[in-house]
Amino acid sequence: RRTCFKIRTGSDNWNKILGGGFESRSVSEVYGEFRCGKTQLFHTMSVTAQLPREEGGAAGKVIVIDTEGTFRPERLIAIAERFKMDPETVVDNVLYQRARNSEHQHEILCGMTADLATGQYRLIMVDSILNLFRGDYQGRGELNERQQKLGVHLRKLVEVAEEFNIAVVMSNQVQSDPGAAMFAGMDGRKPVGGHVMAHASTTRVLLRKGRGDERVAKVMDSPDCPEAEATYIITNGGIND
Ligand code: GTP
Ligand code: MG
Repeated sequence: RRTCFKIRTGSDNWNKILGGGFESRSVSEVYGEFRCGKTQLFHTMSVTAQLPREEGGAAGKVIVIDTEGTFRPERLIAIAERFKMDPETVVDNVLYQRARNSEHQHEILCGMTADLATGQYRLIMVDSILNLFRGDYQGRGELNERQQKLGVHLRKLVEVAEEFNIAVVMSNQVQSDPGAAMFAGMDGRKPVGGHVMAHASTTRVLLRKGRGDERVAKVMDSPDCPEAEATYIITNGGIND
């Protein structure tokens, strides 16, 4: 059995509450309001995934499926320098795909099988998972179809993670309906996507703004880590303590 590994976030505090980082053979979710660092986490992990295993990486290539158009490969240069890696190699090892609609998002994933079978890829990130689905199925009457299509996409992500020993990390938005938020407990924030999302995510991490520049990550759901919080910041070199 191929061994699982964990990919670090760039923040030691955050790694600690995850037992090292985001795990392979598993689908994880980071959710939270705008500007708490979801996309910056993905920039950072595009680099850390390429570090040697003994340095908390996976010595692997990375796939980014971008549904929001906010991923900037040039952002990787400063992060690569922080981790003392060659920026050009780092950028070359990130396969960037911009999804235009939800159907295209799923096609991109299905079209990756040959790349994944090379065994070179160790991390797939989807930023954000529901954005295009929400846009493509807006009416109340379309919710069932949206959830059905979303379920197909998520099952594919789970399958790919398990089959190829890959870490899948996806970002998600929070419900803006304050009524729904009230029922979500102390944090008052709940990821969108309902039980279909909850079922697919093995580990769920809530991100929020803290004091000043501080951000807070909280493990909400994990098979092997207790509910715990960690603070982190966003720097030129990516996510850090
Ligand atoms: P949404 O996609 O809008 O939901 O937000 P997000 O959670 O993806 O936030 P994102 O990762 O884009 O984080 C935005 C924050 O990162 C802002 O506060 C920026 O100031 C900060 N940021 C982005 N790039 C840099 C950088 O190069 N240096 C520093 N120091 N901060 C940066
Ligand atoms: Mg973002």
